[in-house]
Amino acid sequence: MITRRKFLERSSLLATTLATRPKAFLHVMAHPVATTMPVALDVNTLAQFVDPLPIPEIASPQGQRPSPADPKMSVPFYRIQAQANSSKVHRDLPPTRFWSFGSSMPGPTLETRGGEPLLVEWANGLPNEHFLPIDHTIHGAEEDKPAVRTVVHLHGAKTRPESDGYPEDWIVPGKSSLYYYPNQQDAAMLWYHDHAIGINRLNIYAGLFGAFFIRDGVEEGLNLPKGKYELPLILCDRLLTREGQLVYPISTDPQSPWVPEAMGNAILVNGKLFPYLEVEPRRYRFRLLNASNARFYYLSFANDAPFHQIGTDQGLLSAPVRVTYLEIAPGERADLVVDFSEHQGAHLILKNQAFIVMQFRVSTGKVVDTSALPSALRPLPKVPESQAVETRLLTLDEFVTKTGNPAMLLLNASHWKLPVTEKPVLGSTEIWALINPTDDSHPIHLHLVRFQILDRQPYEPWLYQTKRQLHFLGPPQPPGPNEAGWKDTVQAHPRMVTRIIVPFEGFTGRYVWHCHILEHEDNEMMRPYEVIAAA
Ligand code: C2O
Ligand code: CU
Ligand code: CU
Repeated sequence: MITRRKFLERSSLLATTLATRPKAFLHVMAHPVATTMPVALDVNTLAQFVDPLPIPEIASPQGQRPSPADPKMSVPFYRIQAQANSSKVHRDLPPTRFWSFGSSMPGPTLETRGGEPLLVEWANGLPNEHFLPIDHTIHGAEEDKPAVRTVVHLHGAKTRPESDGYPEDWIVPGKSSLYYYPNQQDAAMLWYHDHAIGINRLNIYAGLFGAFFIRDGVEEGLNLPKGKYELPLILCDRLLTREGQLVYPISTDPQSPWVPEAMGNAILVNGKLFPYLEVEPRRYRFRLLNASNARFYYLSFANDAPFHQIGTDQGLLSAPVRVTYLEIAPGERADLVVDFSEHQGAHLILKNQAFIVMQFRVSTGKVVDTSALPSALRPLPKVPESQAVETRLLTLDEFVTKTGNPAMLLLNASHWKLPVTEKPVLGSTEIWALINPTDDSHPIHLHLVRFQILDRQPYEPWLYQTKRQLHFLGPPQPPGPNEAGWKDTVQAHPRMVTRIIVPFEGFTGRYVWHCHILEHEDNEMMRPYEVIAAA
């Protein structure tokens, strides 16, 4: 069931040699003493479960401001600054240098309700030099661009283009942007993160992200665990040195340090390595986010304890799905309910395949749990295929060097700078068929919209690459029950055609769609699209 992502063992059939520069991927884990790299931390030498799980603070507004949508109304105003910080990821390591929103990594959590707008002034208070390796051969990050640039995108939000964090709308240190979020959408866990073109992977890796919750009456009517029984679990992996400092892996070409994916030796939960959480023997709701650059997680409890998934990227599922295992790709969210009542006094380990992530310490003694896990959550009408006015066939392309190393990734074989080709009409519904000839699963994200997964179908890549013939090798597979809700990021599996159905609602204007493996996104696996007004 697990899709192995084998970046370096790609099909030579598809090895279209495009770039000439060699980009050998440096195996940092395998060769921790490579001359260009400091010595990597051996996480196995660290004591486990000595730090409590931190919970990011809830942001509080600085006051009220007139609403840009209606000046007679005032809305909460927040000011959140990106700044250099340091924090301890583990008791026995010195503080790690990060860039974060506010004083912690992840940044503060924003909370609002559906239909209640808010304003955020996103300030760039970062230093003028970057501390991670910029690749100036990447589009948008050329030598003439300022090294430090940020722009904030609220992932999952239905936002006007001018507040959506278009990758070229970056600002330099000392500047800020005022963004308006109408929040006219269902309850869901969104997340904000940097989106600056060409260096997005470095800025998010540095720590520039945080959670954003939208609540609503439907969710509240369900009596799910809340308050201190509802907690975010934000996962990100980082490559740490023995001194506990962040290292971003680089290629062997000093002119072009980009690597096809950055993975770390340390899995952080809310910014801590091997944290523990003391829980009562009752139900908890965990809001899980994969904020990693490239890592997919395959999570389970070490004792295979079952749990329930109740929601996905864009909110609640129609009914809880009982699982013992969860796969989550970069950018995706999972809403989980774990019932610890059967585990009184136990220590439950959450693991990612063979790697330990964190520990839950279940207390003993009687507790009264008045929360519920209802069998029906939120009605989820299926968007009928007949509603789609257009089907777009879109390829996910990897270009590799003669030696088989990835050099660049594109959507529909198009560079970022080419004219916009996807122009859905506001209010219309389209099917996007994501044709993936590569050996990798790519988590594809569309800004502005939510969508449903129709199916995934194995096909013959070579016939499509050479003759544009779609020859299917098996029946279409429906999405798993835990992804059969509203999504904004979809795993497009290797050698499959993944079809999503997308109602284009909200606003007209220029948005983007991209792979959420940040190394791919930065090296051109991102395209603009434009929602246009009906004629
Ligand atoms: Cu979470 Cu365009 O990204
Ligand atoms: Cu987004
Ligand atoms: Cu990708």
